[in-house]
Amino acid sequence: MKKLRIAPSILSADFARLGEEVTRVIAAGADVIHFDVMDNHYVPNLTFGPMVCEALRPYTKAPIDVHLMVRPVDALVPMFAKAGADIISFHPEASEHVDRTLALIRDHGCRAGLVLNPATPLNALDHVMDRLDLILLMGVNPGFGGQGFIPETLRKARAVRALIDNHVGMNGRPIWLEVDGGVKASNIREIAEAGIDTFVAGSAIFGARDEDGGYQDIIATLRRELVNAAGDMRRAA
Ligand code: DX5
Ligand code: ZN
Repeated sequence: MKKLRIAPSILSADFARLGEEVTRVIAAGADVIHFDVMDNHYVPNLTFGPMVCEALRPYTKAPIDVHLMVRPVDALVPMFAKAGADIISFHPEASEHVDRTLALIRDHGCRAGLVLNPATPLNALDHVMDRLDLILLMGVNPGFGGQGFIPETLRKARAVRALIDNHVGMNGRPIWLEVDGGVKASNIREIAEAGIDTFVAGSAIFGARDEDGGYQDIIATLRRELVNAAGDMRRAA
């Protein structure tokens, strides 16, 4: 049974206490830290850069999953690799040379990912499956947290899951299938059953702080839904 990972997006965290927030979500059982980089060019919002990633690195050994919503892309790759990123993903529309950017990410020792917006067709993956360690499906149009999940993403997830399983079946390297945007306790189970294995959640997690300031309850709730999904998938297999 494939591992199911929870990846809190710190875009919804308390920016005045980012290190503490990272420590607390990982202590509550999250697996990956999702780091949203917005440049007010590729998306209509502005967030943080490599210096913030570098400052957060000592707070956790968990993988830092950098989601680049920037144009151009390449100049930031070595900077985030040096800042401690483990995974770097970008949008194909934002790079002039997708194959070159994917290779650049791996050349700097990071895992490489491609992000598909809701309207981006799957053929963006053609000819680069061997260069991918992660495929990220946007459940919303990028740029903001707290948006509603686009249901069409489920059909796309099933199609990409089939592509990945076929690729891995042909001796390909494993590829994580991640969803980002609009993930909640109420929909994470059906998203898992559509083939997703890594779940980014921002407002659902950081908007549900426990009384003691931690995130035990919400992470436990999400994990329970994933365990139920895994049970459903085992029974259906
Ligand atoms: C949006 C970002 C997401 C966002 C998710 O462009 O890439 O990572 O923070 O936030 P929620 O889970 O609140 O939709
Ligand atoms: Zn993101």
